[in-house]
Amino acid sequence: HPIAILISGRGSNMRSLIDACAQPDYPARIALVLSNRPDAPGLETAREAGLNTVAIDHKPFGKDRAAHERAVNAALRDAGVEIVCLAGYMRVLTPYLVHAWQGRMLNIHPSLLPAFPGLHTHAAAIAAGASTHGCTVHLVTDGVDEGPILGQADVPVLKDDSPDTLAARVLSQEHVLYPAVLAQFCETLDTHQ
Ligand code: GRF
Repeated sequence: HPIAILISGRGSNMRSLIDACAQPDYPARIALVLSNRPDAPGLETAREAGLNTVAIDHKPFGKDRAAHERAVNAALRDAGVEIVCLAGYMRVLTPYLVHAWQGRMLNIHPSLLPAFPGLHTHAAAIAAGASTHGCTVHLVTDGVDEGPILGQADVPVLKDDSPDTLAARVLSQEHVLYPAVLAQFCETLDTHQ
């Protein structure tokens, strides 16, 4: 299954997917890594791994989100992508791109959804006095962080946790969860084809 990974930043989840896709029996391969930020450190990681990369900067498009998304969508189609994996892609999508990839677009979010959608999830979990926190891989739908949940992993919140220490504990689980859920997702596609 050819996938695209969409990033905006450091790309540690992308890295975990690159490593998974390098395993001989893994059911996905990376057709494209796309960033909306030309300076995303993850792009360099992807290039070093010999992957097909493209930067489609949103800034020249100004307020025209639709035009930016048309360019993103064209790049995805050109690369023959079947599944899109958002991995720290920090753009809210319009219904155009969401509908174009309905049922074929996954996102990883650093909380146990439906708890703590949006940004600053680790600080929010600590502030709420949560004893458990974690991460979620879900299908992308129109509502931000609202699509059907495909998998979750939890971690304890420790009494001395700062948002950073908690984030690091969650992130190490993200790196296990995303490749596992993507593999399962590919198998689901196979059985329904
Ligand atoms: C991760 O915490 C992910 O859950 C969130 O954004 C962060 C991206 O980190 N959506 P990285 O770029 O994968 O290192």
